[in-house]
Order: sequence, then structure tokens, then C-alpha cells
Amino acid sequence: MTPYPVNMDVRPAVEAFFDDATNTISYIVKDPTSEACAIIDSVMDIDYAAGRITYDHADALIARITEMGGKLEWIIETHVHADHLSAAPYIQQKLGGKIGVGEKIMVVQETFGKVFNEGTEFQRDGSQFDALFKDGDTYEIGNMQGFAMYTPGHTPACMVHVIGNAAFAGDTLFMPDGGSARADFPGGDAGELYDSIQKVLTLPDDMRLFMCHDYGPNGRDIAWETSVGEEKAHNIHVGGGKTKEEFVKFRTERDAQLAVPKLIIPSLQVNMRAGEVPTDDNGNPMLKVPVNGL
Ligand SMILES: [Fe+2]
Repeated sequence: MTPYPVNMDVRPAVEAFFDDATNTISYIVKDPTSEACAIIDSVMDIDYAAGRITYDHADALIARITEMGGKLEWIIETHVHADHLSAAPYIQQKLGGKIGVGEKIMVVQETFGKVFNEGTEFQRDGSQFDALFKDGDTYEIGNMQGFAMYTPGHTPACMVHVIGNAAFAGDTLFMPDGGSARADFPGGDAGELYDSIQKVLTLPDDMRLFMCHDYGPNGRDIAWETSVGEEKAHNIHVGGGKTKEEFVKFRTERDAQLAVPKLIIPSLQVNMRAGEVPTDDNGNPMLKVPVNGL
């Protein structure tokens, strides 16, 4: 049983947009009874070597919402991603909608404000976002009610968003054969991640579960949808009743071998600002590289 306001009778239409460059899946979630919709985890394209930002992936989301006559009400980030840049402000400028993230964004801003030596003009109170979600907070998308579950572990600000019979896992879980996300970023914690995953697994077994990432392990095709029941039974890291001790040991050893995500440096600077690219003293977009700082 879950203490959250689950309503499996609400069945949003979910469309997935896979980003090849970062293996991220963005979603358009639409209320079947109105024009209202939301975007979960958008992507802004970057050629980091060239310092060039483009918007092909975001434009595809915008084009689809325009085509369906959708009214964009929310642009939600499941967390501060370290492997891709959010396109939230670009999309908001074109279609409106409120940008929301977990309220523990403040912890992430505090940590990385120091790493990137941000001045006092960089607010660490989450004010760059339109809404800060706490555990159990609800919100409306047309006639649908969504709610946020606080699921720290991968990062301190992670939330899983549940809208009717569809849950957006962020980086708590991967597909059953992909396991779970790393827990070794600053503020991450493998034990907390295990507890958060267990919380997600208290949702009904037939809850649709949508991933933020997929890497097609063992050569299988890219996939992004599973269910709570499938994860419970088959997830290679937590399924079949694996204990917290087993998980923490495995996760910690595995994380020690993982390379730093290619786009972590630009991603953090942009995503902790709700997707805005920082600017230099002349107001021009500019990114920093803290040498040996991460
Ligand atoms: Fe992530």
C-alpha cells in the first residue's frame, strides 16, 4: 500500500522522444479529456567540443504539442541531470507552462554553486524554477492530478512523478535488465537510493513505469516502458527481494568503476539554473570548467 493519492483510473496518453546523443527519453504526457499536457525531462542539444547549443530535440516536442493542439501546463525536471542539458526555458518561451523540480534543488545549488565558484548573483533558493515540489505535493494537468514522490539517492533532489497510471522514474530505476542509476554524485547515497526504489515499488504492480534513460544493455533495442510489477520481479539490482546490504555493496563497487558523464560540466551549470545558460560579465552565454574541481 502507498500513502500517495494514486488513481489508476486516470490514463494519460504518453509519447516518448528518445535522444540518441544522451540516451535520454523525454515525454509528452497528455490529459485524454482536455488539451492539457506536460513535458517530463526535455533535452537541449549541445556540441560541447564546439560550444554550440541547438534545439532539434526540443523543437520536435514543440512541433508535436502544436500539432495536437496541446496546452502545455508543466515542464517538469525529475532531477538536476548530469548527462544532458534541459531545454525547459526554450520550451517555456514557445509554449508557456510552469517549470517544476524537487525543492531539494537548493542542496544541489549549494553544492555546485561552490564547485563552479558562482558569485552571490547565483541564487541558491530554487527561485529560477516556477514550482518546487515536496514529497506528496499534487498538481493539475487539465483534469488529471499528478503527484511527486521524493526519491533521493541518485541526487538529493530526485522526484518520481506519478500521473494517473503512469509514473516517471527519473534516474531511480532503469529497465529491469538495466538495474539502477549511480549513487556516487555529490549528495548521492546508495542506501537512500535503495529506500527510494522500495518506495516506488509500493505503487500498484500495473502502474506503467517510464524511464529517463536506456542504454540497450546486452545489445537489445532501446526501451523505456515497464511496470512496477516487472521491476519488482526482475530488476537485476533490486528485484526478487535483494536486500539493502546487497544493493549498497554492489552499487558502491560498481560506481567506483564508472567514468564521469561526458556532459556533466555543462549539464550541472545549466540545469541548476532551470535550463538557463549562465552568462559572463557582458551578458554573453558562457560555461566554465573547474579544473580538478569535480
Ligand atoms: Fe540523472
